[in-house]
Amino acid sequence: MKILMVCLGNICRSPLAEGIMKTKLPEDYMVDSAGTISMHEGEHPDKRAIKTAANHGIDISKQRSRPIGAKDFEIFDKIYCMDVDVLADVVSKAENEEQRQKISLFLEAAGDHKNTEVPDPYWGDMKDFENVFQLLDKGCDKIAENLLLES
Ligand code: 4NP
Repeated sequence: MKILMVCLGNICRSPLAEGIMKTKLPEDYMVDSAGTISMHEGEHPDKRAIKTAANHGIDISKQRSRPIGAKDFEIFDKIYCMDVDVLADVVSKAENEEQRQKISLFLEAAGDHKNTEVPDPYWGDMKDFENVFQLLDKGCDKIAENLLLES
């Protein structure tokens, strides 16, 4: 099973989602992340994302930002998008129905009834990053549980 987490810049939300999800699944599950824009390509995650993950014992400092590409729709089984704009963008890049079936909104897949989007913390502060971490942590618990039940 191969899982891709996607946000806009691949420096805040999806690197956190990747780091958290890796702690929830067995090692034979591949977890990666990407962005819909290439603006930060090659960069490590935002310092605040690295610090927030480290506060919870997770090291995301070695990740590098990359944009989502056509191959990702072939390689990955599940593609989780952090917000509705990202979802629309990712859906528009899919080439057929089989690929579109792989895509979902992260919090919808997690069955979160209160929130539909993981808010972009980029223009916020450490409190916003911690809030994102909590949303992702709960969401990853639920998604991992469902994936393990499916397998
Ligand atoms: P992310 O956050 O999508 O969670 O990685 C952002 C990162 C960069 C920008 C916006 C959001 N940006 O405008 O550069």
